[in-house]
Amino acid sequence: MVVVAILAAGRGTRMKSNLPKVLHSLGGRSLIERVLESARPLLPSRQMVIVGYQALEVKAAMQSTPNLEFVEQTVQLGTGHAIQQLLPHLENYTGDLLVLSGDVPLLRAETLKQLLQIHTEHQNAATILTAQLSNPTGYGRVFCNSENIVEQIVEDKDCTPPQKQNCRINGGIYCFRWQDLAKVLPHLQANNAQKEYYLPDVVSQLEPVMAVDVQDYQEILGINDRLQLATAYQILQKRVKEKWMAAGVTLIDPASITIDDTVELQPDVTIEPQTHLRGHTVIQTGSRIGPGSLIENSQLGENVTALYSVVTDSIVQAGTRIGPYAHLRGHVEVGAGCRVGNFVELKNSKLGDRTNVAHLSYLGDTTTGTRVNIGAGTITANYDGVNKHHTKIGDRTSTGSNSVLVAPLTLGDDVYVAAGSTITEDVPDDSLVIARARQVVKPGWSKKQKSDT
Ligand code: UD1
Ligand code: CA
Repeated sequence: MVVVAILAAGRGTRMKSNLPKVLHSLGGRSLIERVLESARPLLPSRQMVIVGYQALEVKAAMQSTPNLEFVEQTVQLGTGHAIQQLLPHLENYTGDLLVLSGDVPLLRAETLKQLLQIHTEHQNAATILTAQLSNPTGYGRVFCNSENIVEQIVEDKDCTPPQKQNCRINGGIYCFRWQDLAKVLPHLQANNAQKEYYLPDVVSQLEPVMAVDVQDYQEILGINDRLQLATAYQILQKRVKEKWMAAGVTLIDPASITIDDTVELQPDVTIEPQTHLRGHTVIQTGSRIGPGSLIENSQLGENVTALYSVVTDSIVQAGTRIGPYAHLRGHVEVGAGCRVGNFVELKNSKLGDRTNVAHLSYLGDTTTGTRVNIGAGTITANYDGVNKHHTKIGDRTSTGSNSVLVAPLTLGDDVYVAAGSTITEDVPDDSLVIARARQVVKPGWSKKQKSDT
């Protein structure tokens, strides 16, 4: 049985931010969300988040995550002091405590499982995740005997010059036999450079404490400043891209592409340069996205293309061509085999199959039938300054160039709207509608004008 505790009370001074460190976003999710996710497959019996600096904000941000317990550390006197706050909450608990840092977001669940397994197998009082880093600056140094039994952990700021040479670092991830830890926690001292109660200090009072090197040192990268945040993002991107390429996705110029790890791609999707895939996006096989597109929280069917376009919160069915330079936003649903072309904006609209909106249009709050042709420059006037109104366009209807459709409005099936019309009233099926001033031609007018003056 394991209880998970996450250290998230610190301010994160080195971030130089008003936002608490653990709420900073890494590839679309906050650091703390990522930490929680890494522990979820362990099926912890309790998940306790230790909050302090801007506790209200941190709690509010985590509101929708089920089964979290928040424990307050009202003054931040160090990581040991933070874990001391658990004492009244775990009084009769006899299992293990897994301590995670809210600022170590790249851990794999597999790594945590292995840590727990080694901890149990060896019946350790504590097992610590460590790594050998070529540049250990900033991390606590772990000193072990030849059997990986930890003798001491010294914080970077407390290290003597020879101690600084030790490249084995504390990852800040620990598994403790809780009953043993609970006995020694109250005796921590703050005799150190930062005048803090350090959690790693407990190791000298526990027996045995084992260090386990993580296989991929990148997993325990701690985020203390913006540079480390950017480094973590690069690591995450590399992981995500390698995963998709291995799964049969072509990335043309991967370095210029970004893909959130919440995105799902099918084999034989091609992502062109300068393309960014975000949030809960799903792209089906045969689709070709980019160059230069941003797709966010959207579902694209098979064989869709999206060239230099922005698609957010939308659904696009198979075989539809988007762009260049189209913008779909606010819950758009585009049917199969459609074309949404140059400089077209769609907002909260639904296009039936095989409908074309090819050039220079805005459709807002509009539903079209199938095989509709929206002529170049057709605009729905959906907003009267107070309310938004709906436009309904029937099957096979065509609008001429530069039509204005003043909502609320219904155009029936097989309607033709003459170019340049401003339509303010509903039009029945099978009609031609012309709503523009009749052309007047005055022959010889120019010549007469000249001779008069
Ligand atoms: C800590 C470890 C260090 C390790 C490194 C790994 C200590 C003393 N040092 O150093 O050995 O190499 O992590 O990343 O533990 N926190 C609280 N309450 C506090 C102070 C901190 O909840 O009073 C939280 C922070 O929000 C953060 C975590 O604990 O999520 C770690 O604190 P931080 O100040 O970043 O410790 P490091 O100096 O990185
Ligand atoms: Ca840290």
